[in-house]
Amino acid sequence: MEEKTDVCQQQPEEVVLIVGAGPSGLAVAACLAKRAVPSLILERDDCIGPLWRKRSYDRVSLHLAKQYCSLPHMPHSDTTPTYMPKSEFISYLDSYAERFRLRIQFGRRVQSARYDQKLGRWIVKARSGDVLEEYIGRFLVVAAGENDQKFVPDVNGLDSFKGVVIHSSEYRNAAAFKGKDVLVVGSGNSGMEIAYDLFEAGARSSIVVRSTIHIVTKEIYSFAMRLMKYLPMLIVDNIFLFLCYLRFGNTAKYGLRRPDIGPMYMKYNTPVFPVVDVGTYDRIKTGEIQVLPSLTNIEGSMVTFSNGKTHHYDAIIFATGYRSTVRQWLEADEGLIGKDGMARNNYPDHWKGQNGLYCASLNHRGLRASSEDGLTIADDISKAYNLSEENQRSV
Ligand SMILES: Cc1cc2nc3c(=O)[nH]c(=O)nc-3n(C[C@H](O)[C@H](O)[C@H](O)COP(=O)(O)OP(=O)(O)OC[C@H]3O[C@@H](n4cnc5c(N)ncnc54)[C@H](O)[C@@H]3O)c2cc1C
Ligand SMILES: *[C@@H]1O[C@H](CO)[C@@H](O)[C@H](O)[C@H]1NC(C)=O
Repeated sequence: MEEKTDVCQQQPEEVVLIVGAGPSGLAVAACLAKRAVPSLILERDDCIGPLWRKRSYDRVSLHLAKQYCSLPHMPHSDTTPTYMPKSEFISYLDSYAERFRLRIQFGRRVQSARYDQKLGRWIVKARSGDVLEEYIGRFLVVAAGENDQKFVPDVNGLDSFKGVVIHSSEYRNAAAFKGKDVLVVGSGNSGMEIAYDLFEAGARSSIVVRSTIHIVTKEIYSFAMRLMKYLPMLIVDNIFLFLCYLRFGNTAKYGLRRPDIGPMYMKYNTPVFPVVDVGTYDRIKTGEIQVLPSLTNIEGSMVTFSNGKTHHYDAIIFATGYRSTVRQWLEADEGLIGKDGMARNNYPDHWKGQNGLYCASLNHRGLRASSEDGLTIADDISKAYNLSEENQRSV
């Protein structure tokens, strides 16, 4: 994969190498710093938290109350709004990195990582412009995120579509879509919010809802999170659904069927999150935002759906999620990370592999996982590190 002309620049040895300067990578590095273990983060982009800074739409805010979205050792301040807008969250990440004096090398795209048995070290190759650099570390933490590569499903005839086609990561706001017919594909949090954003700005907005969804409010969601401390999940889910029923009524009437499993169960045991309503639901009820079943075919600017109906669109926005790219560069991982680039084992046994390999928040659990995994991984590494330091001193 590497080009022949490359000279590999050897970097000084590190204790811990972390791939990714998103919330998860920052959390691990900060927890290590707190435990006096040095680390270096390698980040492909030129900034902290690029997913939030460059690949999310303007109006996005955190879905849960701020106490569920902080990273270790630095709670949000009293003046922070309960549901943080993205700009607040980005400044939080910046001050977090500053507070713990994290060492981050930007513009480093990791393209291979393997464990050298003889050396007992991880060898990580990263590209920085024309230069290929080789990093060596005793521990390797994969914090490269589950939302790395945009995913767009194969749709018959998509190539023939005349209008604009973008992925939700490229959508910022509705400015360009006023007065247009826009189809949003995918009914996760991004899709539902983008459909509303478009409607609000004066676009005719439709959304493809292919599977069941749990539509909730952020208040009920945060309340249910609080209940999880005191009650079993099954009971929390029943209360959760009852409160949602009071707010939304029977959502199936409008094409939004709920899954058979409860929202908390879904959050913790499947890759799918409950959808936090931002106003979309009431517009669906009035018919101002149209709900459609899955796409079967596209021809020119006409899109056909599985109910046989065909409609005209000026633009299609795919809010169809992302894929992890970890398996493109991580070799010989001995079972920590599956073919899909996600943690192979279920929570809570998902974070530790062999030979000092770890992965953070690769199990569909959001920012909670960034924080929890950061603490767990740093504790484990610092134990091994302290032990080896002691051994060295006693020699
Ligand atoms: C629009 C949107 C809204 C969201 N809202 C919420 C929410 O409200 N609550 C919640 O809990 N979660 C939310 N999420 C999920 C969110 O992605 C995670 O909570 C959080 O960003 C995960 O952090 P992370 O550090 O694991 O991954 P990321 O933030 O994706 O960070 C991974 C980093 O690794 C870098 N990287 C990847 N590959 C390489 C490589 N080969 N070499 C070098 N660097 C690499 C990337 O550039 C990136 O900076 C949302 C996601 C999106 C897209
Ligand atoms: C390792 O030592 C540092 C102090 O040098 C300490 O802060 C940290 O808690 C120790 N880690 C463990 C797991 O005991």
